[in-house]
Amino acid sequence: MSNDTTPNDDDGQWHDVAELSQLDPAFPLGVEIDGTQVGIYQDGDRIHALEDICPHAFALMSQGFQEDGIIECPLHGARFEIATGKHLNEIGQRDLKCHAVRVENGRVCVKLAR
Ligand code: FES
Repeated sequence: MSNDTTPNDDDGQWHDVAELSQLDPAFPLGVEIDGTQVGIYQDGDRIHALEDICPHAFALMSQGFQEDGIIECPLHGARFEIATGKHLNEIGQRDLKCHAVRVENGRVCVKLAR
């Protein structure tokens, strides 16, 4: 599996957050990095890391419903595109921040966006 999602990849620190085999394409994995909640998503052969707090009312997006490249908030149904964080309905209010991801030796590493 490859990954080259590298937004804001100019500085900062990589954090080893999970074993690649822990990921499930149907269920996001929520992790905390330096006090920041991050949702890790497997979408086809790509891995993505998104801001995990819903902009509407602070639900954890990683506890939502993942299907066809979309994550839906478990509380009121805000929908976001996993690959880009783009919000797809009004209740989402804004796009989710995307964090950089790389996969090395079967480990998923994330660098927080600034
Ligand atoms: S908390 Fe996510 S849509 Fe309301």
